[in-house]
Amino acid sequence: MILVTGAGGALGRLVAGELAGRGDVVLGSRTPRSAGERRVDFDDPGSLDFTGVDTLLLISAGYGEDDVVVARHDAAISAAEKAEVGHIVYTSLSGDGDHLPYALAHRWTERRLRRSASAWTILRNGLYAEFLADIAAPGPDGTIAAPLGEGRLAAVARADLAAVAARVVSTPQEHVGKVYELVGERALGGAELAAAIGGAYAPAALGATREAIIASGVALPYQVPMLVGTYSAVAGGFLDGSGVEGSSLRGLLGRAPQSALEVYRRAAAAAIGNVR
Ligand SMILES: NC(=O)c1ccc[n+]([C@@H]2O[C@H](COP(=O)([O-])OP(=O)(O)OC[C@H]3O[C@@H](n4cnc5c(N)ncnc54)[C@H](OP(=O)(O)O)[C@@H]3O)[C@@H](O)[C@H]2O)c1
Repeated sequence: MILVTGAGGALGRLVAGELAGRGDVVLGSRTPRSAGERRVDFDDPGSLDFTGVDTLLLISAGYGEDDVVVARHDAAISAAEKAEVGHIVYTSLSGDGDHLPYALAHRWTERRLRRSASAWTILRNGLYAEFLADIAAPGPDGTIAAPLGEGRLAAVARADLAAVAARVVSTPQEHVGKVYELVGERALGGAELAAAIGGAYAPAALGATREAIIASGVALPYQVPMLVGTYSAVAGGFLDGSGVEGSSLRGLLGRAPQSALEVYRRAAAAAIGNVR
């Protein structure tokens, strides 16, 4: 049996779609949406019974301070070990993301898996093209003010990462002990994003952006450094894919990846009510 955690999230829903129709897949979520789904909440040990699970897809639960996220992932892995789950597949962060504020919890979880009694596979996901559309969204006049500098991001369509995850959990024995880097093949910079939506690129300073994020009130305190640190890492040239040795994306997909620029264009255009 395959159990997918976080099945209510955007990535989890896409993975569930990829695995639909199989009789041996159980979806787990904090908020089950059907009788067939199981309640799985890493914050609630009582919900972590993985008896009978052969392969666990552990989708990271990265929204929180490091201690919270680490405790969640530790609880999930410990429960899997207790239930003698054969194989754990974890959605981590690409190797070039080590400067990101949220890298620590991913690397901690990778270490935890390496000393686990279960077999494991680590999917080092690049940043989503959809996430790029959030953090580099154009303003109402089409201007992108995100402080990406001259940096570029090797973004990946979330659906491609879901397809890879579904493939790996379907043939786990082929992926024992593997760490797959999954970043986009073409890195995107601010000027290119602006051209794609017919807008302009006028990057703000990091400090002004930090103040604007705080003033907007949309980010929780722990999220402010996460966002600013993401801009800083892109601007510093750390996330353009050049620091990753060999992306496994195309090979594991068995086809060309989706265009991250097109995913960005659609999401950004929709955000400003300008879908073409
Ligand atoms: N690569 C990227 O660009 C990027 C961007 C943002 C986040 N991420 C990371 O990738 C993960 C999946 O991305 P996404 O786009 O699907 O995020 P999302 O749509 O925001 O979903 C959040 C995910 O976290 C899970 N979760 C939260 N608290 C949990 C808990 N206590 N126990 C178990 N699961 C919990 C949710 O599961 P349920 O709601 O089903 O319980 C859901 O799968 C995120 O959680 C985050 O760690 C990656």
